[in-house]
Formats: sequence, structure tokens, C-alpha cells
Amino acid sequence: MSAQKVLVTGATKGIGKGIAKVFASHGCDVAVLGRDQSTADAAAAELAASTGSKVIGVAGQVSDKASMSAAIDKVVAEFGGLDVLCANAGIFPDAPLESMSEDDWDLVMNTNLKGTFISVQAAIPALKESSAGRIVVTSSITGPVTGFPGWAHYGASKAGQLGFIRTASIELAKYQITINAVMPGNILTEGLQGMGEEYLTQMANSIPLKRLGQVEDIGNAAYYFASEGAGYVTGQTIVVDGGQILPESLEALE
Ligand SMILES: NC(=O)c1ccc[n+]([C@@H]2O[C@H](COP(=O)([O-])OP(=O)(O)OC[C@H]3O[C@@H](n4cnc5c(N)ncnc54)[C@H](OP(=O)(O)O)[C@@H]3O)[C@@H](O)[C@H]2O)c1
Repeated sequence: MSAQKVLVTGATKGIGKGIAKVFASHGCDVAVLGRDQSTADAAAAELAASTGSKVIGVAGQVSDKASMSAAIDKVVAEFGGLDVLCANAGIFPDAPLESMSEDDWDLVMNTNLKGTFISVQAAIPALKESSAGRIVVTSSITGPVTGFPGWAHYGASKAGQLGFIRTASIELAKYQITINAVMPGNILTEGLQGMGEEYLTQMANSIPLKRLGQVEDIGNAAYYFASEGAGYVTGQTIVVDGGQILPESLEALE
């Protein structure tokens, strides 16, 4: 497979930036998308410098179809095509169920779930032109497997993404486009780092592998789903959480 042309949404920081870094480290052409052009350009310049690959910044709003179509047109014009879409952009503002407003619900659903649909739909024409089109969605353990107080809307959006990929995988199979999802556990992002050393240590101790995930752990899983070797894998998920969801014995309470 020649160097893949990749678009990662929500790649100005956090997990998306880690995914972009892994692909760029493997010599791929990578576009990092965020809502603001200068922020995306800054992340792209940093990744280009650290990996030596071609990395560009693209502005886009994942919940807006015209915006995402324009962003994908830009990527295709810059790279000469698109092989991989990583639909990663997502938000997680907390809101207790009893006081959650319709606006709270709509913002999370529009970004995380509708944003996945819009990003995927906008990328289909370009991915159809690829010899091996790949879509990798960033879901979560929260929603599909676990619950987290304050995140009922978030959990629903992340579970919804998995329902979406199962039907999408069947519809896209005729183009040899695969679509799969990574389900991260607790990943050490800039946002989580702000929670303080004590919280991070306690969280790490609750995970069987005794550490929080690195953004590259998710990038490596996304890279696998996008690889030539994963060409027969579609509509599937992989949990990347250091074993966080597994404990059920009394030992888990220690
Ligand atoms: N961190 C975790 O432990 C964890 C665990 C499980 C799943 N996840 C999932 O991983 C994904 C990334 O999470 P993260 O923790 O890395 O988040 P993050 O650090 O807050 O980064 C979010 C990214 O999404 C972009 N973004 C937000 N809203 C957008 C929109 N409407 N249109 C385009 N881009 C938008 C942001 O870019 P700008 O602000 O520059 O626009 C930023 O690059 C999410 O889907 C999340 O659900 C995270």
C-alpha cells in the first residue's frame, strides 16, 4: 500500500492529535481538522516537524455538511485523494440527567453522533476513489459498555456511533470501504492532565495495566483498522482501555 492520505477530525489536540501523529510517523499524508484554521495549522506544523511527513491543517465543523464537504475537497486538492477518514471529533460536557437541557443534549448529539454521520457521508465520494477506503470512528467504553454520571447524552452518542457503523459497513462494502470503531478507556489528554496528580494516580491504580492510556495507544488501534492487513475487518470494534472494564472480583474494590 502506498503512503495513505488521511483526514483526522478533532486532531488539534488530545486523541485526534495522537492518531494523526501515528499515521504521520508511518509516512502518511495527514490532514488535521479542527474548528479554527490557525489552531489546526499550529497542530499540523508541530506534527510535520516531529514526523517529517506532510501534515496540513484544515478548518471544519463536523456537524455541518457544507463545512465538511469543503474540508474534504481541500484535503483531496492538497493530497490528490483520500484513503482514510478518522472520525474522532467529540465533546463531553457533563450535565446531570435531572437538569440536562435540550440544548445540552442537542450539542453533544450534533457534535458526536450527527458529526460522525456528516463526516462519513461527506468523505464517501473521495473514499470511493481510493483502492482501499477506510473509516475509523472514535467511540468510547462510556455508553457502549459503562456508565458515567453526568454523561447520559455522551454515552448515548458513543453507543449510537456503534449502531451507525454496523449498517454503514454493509452499505459501504460494495465500494470495498471498511468502517470500524476504537473504544478508548481513560486516555491521558491535555484535558485529563488538568484533573491533578492525585486523581490521575488513583485512576491509573484502578486499571489492570496500572496506567492511563496514551493518545498513541488509540492511534495504533486506528492505524491497524486502516492497514492493508485489516482489509477483511469491517463493522467491528476494539476496546483499548488497559483492561479497565474487566475487573469483577473483590480484588477490583481494593
Ligand atoms: N479522552 C478520553 O479519555 C476519551 C475516552 C473515550 C473516548 N474519547 C473520545 O475521543 C475523542 C476525542 O476526545 P479527546 O479527549 O481527545 O478530546 P479533546 O482533547 O477535547 O479534543 C477534541 C477535539 O475535537 C475538536 N472538535 C470539537 N468539536 C468539534 C466540532 N464541532 N467540529 C470539529 N472539531 C471539533 C477539537 O478541536 P478544536 O477545539 O480546535 O475545534 C479537538 O481537536 C472524542 O470522540 C471522545 O468522545 C475520549
